Amino acid sequence: MCGIIGIIGNSDVAPRLLESLRRLEYRGYDSAGIAVQTGHGPERRRAEGKIRNLEAVIDEQPLPGVVGIGHTRWATHGAPSVRNAHPHHYGKVTLVHNGIIENFAELKAELKAKGQVFESDTDTEVIAHLLNDALEGGQPLKDAFKRVLDRLHGAYALAILVEGEENTILGARRGSPLVIGWGENDEMFLGSDALAVGPFTQRVTYLEEGDWVILSRGGAQTFDAQGFLVNRPVTTVSASAALVEKGSYRHFMEKEVHEQPDSCQRTLSAYLDPVAGEVRADIKAALDFSQIVRIQIIACGTAYYAGSVARYAFEKLAGLPVDVEVASEFRYRSPAMMPGTLAVAVSQSGETADTLAALRWCKDEGLKTAAVVNVHSSTMAREADLMWPTHAGPEIGVASTKAFTAQLSALLCLAVCAARQRGRITAHEEAHLVQVLLESPGLISQALGMDADIVRITHKLSKARDVIYLGRGDMYPLALEGALKLKEISYIHAEGYAAGELKHGPIALIDENTPVVVIAPDDALFEKTASNVQEVAARGGRVIMITDTPEKVPALSEDAARTLTVVKAPACDPFIAPLVYSVPIQLLAYHTAVHKGTDVDQPRNLAKSVTVE
Ligand code: M6R
Repeated sequence: MCGIIGIIGNSDVAPRLLESLRRLEYRGYDSAGIAVQTGHGPERRRAEGKIRNLEAVIDEQPLPGVVGIGHTRWATHGAPSVRNAHPHHYGKVTLVHNGIIENFAELKAELKAKGQVFESDTDTEVIAHLLNDALEGGQPLKDAFKRVLDRLHGAYALAILVEGEENTILGARRGSPLVIGWGENDEMFLGSDALAVGPFTQRVTYLEEGDWVILSRGGAQTFDAQGFLVNRPVTTVSASAALVEKGSYRHFMEKEVHEQPDSCQRTLSAYLDPVAGEVRADIKAALDFSQIVRIQIIACGTAYYAGSVARYAFEKLAGLPVDVEVASEFRYRSPAMMPGTLAVAVSQSGETADTLAALRWCKDEGLKTAAVVNVHSSTMAREADLMWPTHAGPEIGVASTKAFTAQLSALLCLAVCAARQRGRITAHEEAHLVQVLLESPGLISQALGMDADIVRITHKLSKARDVIYLGRGDMYPLALEGALKLKEISYIHAEGYAAGELKHGPIALIDENTPVVVIAPDDALFEKTASNVQEVAARGGRVIMITDTPEKVPALSEDAARTLTVVKAPACDPFIAPLVYSVPIQLLAYHTAVHKGTDVDQPRNLAKSVTVE
């Protein structure tokens, strides 16, 4: 979603605004712009497309000045164009916005009735008009700003410049995050996340829901939604959270896939005590799963598939009923919730609008809530009764990879915890499962060694128009995840199916042009999945089978055998197979996209953190 940066600096800010916008590219955007206080009011430069287009505009028409704001826009209202790019301007006010103003049509009609003319199709522009009106009406800046915020419905993070207030940036958050950055020599920053201000400072203040701020040189006055002055703590974010580089990798996605042995290790360490051979005491103390009658997992996209994999573990190991639902459906369905249900939101960002709304709905229903989140300062982390962190580190690639395996790591540990607390496994069995989990970083590392084999098959795969993914048991959600990964970064149409469902319809799609990726670890369902491979091969389908047990793949006729490619995965305990097999499906999508030459880290139309509905 849109990215925001604001700087009150001691030297020309345009280069630093651009540097920050480049850091925000990962969020997904289609236009960008900056505005700088030039001494005679804020001036803007905007461009459609990539930041380099904006740089070219600024090279031609430089913007000197030490105070400014910048924005990457992910279009919601109005096409991606210069006209709709932020900053928006009216009268004395120039601003950038992330979120959606839901009552913009009503506000716009009111302003138009007064004769005001709009230059864009955006919802954002009404805020500039409203604030300018309030200021023209003679209200002091602080009162005018509060009054405007009170009129807005929906979600926003805002950074605002006002003519005549040369050393001030106004900021506000509701629904979309915003952080204050505390720099050296009285420099101050405002950003949509810690990464935005990361090149300049690691000292940040996370604004809370409804907070708004008047940023000045060397300080900030922060107010809560009611308008009371508040003191929010300053925290120091780690250097890795503040500055993330690609290093020698071609793409952030590639780097993040390769970081998984470490990110899983870090996450497992937060949940497991390797010496005692059990789930850590603090995790056990935080929640007694024997008091939980049911789990409701709510999430979107890849996080939803992590929850779907976890369901198998919680039900099988702990005998705990689990429902998993995409948050955008859950929140509007009026679901019937049973007392004793634990609602678990799973989210990398902790800011996804639908997941957050679903979590809030569960809280309002009086349910106990937990959030499995990677951004520990996120809104979900703060609002859930219990935060279960993942330790993937900052994930920049839009396609979620290391966050997914970190979510799986945390959830599998929690399933073991639940099983033990519910008396479903003995201490000895717990120790065995802990041992198995602790082996996963090493096995993930081995799975990364499948890279060369996978590169070989993706050349052909990149020519496909449609691809089918099949899996059984917890490999079924992994098949869905594999299909999502492929379609989002390579733009190849892909669908995941439960392998047993094939003959109930999807088999009609099988022909020599539709590759079928079969995820088949050596588990209790292997033979059944292998039968499905036979069915596909018998119909001339091209099968790519990912398995640790190629020797068990049934003998096929000579013709059928020619269409079968087996990719050998490391052997592993079925409990951690979802972790290990995540790697080849990520690599498959990655190399296919590289072959196709798509924008791997910032696929078209996608945003990293989806903070609008
Ligand atoms: O930040 P979240 O985990 O809540 O994000 C959820 C989805 O938007 C996200 O997983 C999305 O599906 C990714 N692009 C998948 O790679």
